[in-house]
Amino acid sequence: MAHEKLLLIPGPSPVHPRIIHSLSQPTVSHVSPVLAEEFTLALENLKKTVFTRKGEAFVFAGGGTLSMETAAVNIIGPTDRVLIVSHGYFGERMAELCRSFGFDCDLLECEWGEAVPPERLEDRMAEGGYSVVAATHVDTATGVCAPVREYARILKGREALFILDGVCATGGVEERMDDWGIDVILTAPQKCFGAPPGLAICVFSERAMDKRKRLKSVPAYYADILRWLPVMKDPTKYFSTHGVNEIRAFAESTRIVMEEGLEARFARHARTAKAIRLGLAGLGFSLFTRDHCLADTLSVIHIPAGLEDAAFRAAYLEQGVVVAGGLAHTAGRVFRMGHMGNLSSAQVLFALDALERTLKHLNVAFEKRAGVQAAKSALES
Ligand SMILES: Cc1ncc(COP(=O)(O)O)c(C=O)c1O
Repeated sequence: MAHEKLLLIPGPSPVHPRIIHSLSQPTVSHVSPVLAEEFTLALENLKKTVFTRKGEAFVFAGGGTLSMETAAVNIIGPTDRVLIVSHGYFGERMAELCRSFGFDCDLLECEWGEAVPPERLEDRMAEGGYSVVAATHVDTATGVCAPVREYARILKGREALFILDGVCATGGVEERMDDWGIDVILTAPQKCFGAPPGLAICVFSERAMDKRKRLKSVPAYYADILRWLPVMKDPTKYFSTHGVNEIRAFAESTRIVMEEGLEARFARHARTAKAIRLGLAGLGFSLFTRDHCLADTLSVIHIPAGLEDAAFRAAYLEQGVVVAGGLAHTAGRVFRMGHMGNLSSAQVLFALDALERTLKHLNVAFEKRAGVQAAKSALES
């Protein structure tokens, strides 16, 4: 293992040795042919990852929140009404972001741990008036995977453009941009790609590009995709200096995705998630997220009664595993374990073994080896 501690926080996910190698290459010029070649490959592989032929891909220095902002400011105009389908923290962030630009937006919400049922979206769309709909694919605070395909089916044939936040999903969970009719997929490198953080990543459909062009001016300079478009077509052109090493590392991560194959990668994420959930259940843990909308990329887990969040996570860290605490009102009540990117079966078993040692250290009763055994059978199935 390349790390002293196994990072299972939901991003950054553990970094593959090949990506570390590429990150450590000498920094080259941001307009050099060496970088341009890698950049073009990364953009092509990104488009393949979200199954689009005609979409335009954009990658520049930033983060997932800048990806959200880029998606919003480039297709939402002053006369648009936006509906945000929110399953938790990051849907709420999208609403806050839209309001900070003065965009007219409503939230379609549900209880944390639940996904908004497609029928509610259908009813709201039937009322009319929305020209943009945004949804989070996997909400990293709640562990909810939204029924995106069904949302897309409801939106297909309507005027409204569909923005999907794939920060905790793209490259780990299926997202078929062209077939399903998604207009913008925004994401980040540090989760299912398993690359280091530091980039904003978006793919815009033809419809979304047309909308950007019709808007003429947008409330952005750096995040204006029309300023980046010539650079994405020819990365030897200059608009703003790239995060050269991050882009090379991202390119390598997309190579790993392509080599594994998308179907195999999605299946592995599903298998890993199942193994972790069975392992956790074997050790007596219960999930915060409802069964019907569990994400394959991370799990949100109740802190067992009698255990204190900080002490529990510190003890787990002592055993070599870093997990994250709950966000907003779930802080202190849950912990969050990422299982996305290039996580190996050995790392999954290590995490569960370390969890057993943690429980033992904290004098919590559990059935010995139940976690590792359950996960092992799921990983081998
Ligand atoms: C679903 C989702 N959207 C957006 C973001 C924001 O990304 P960043 O922290 O890179 O700004 C995150 C971060 O965890 C996320 O999980």
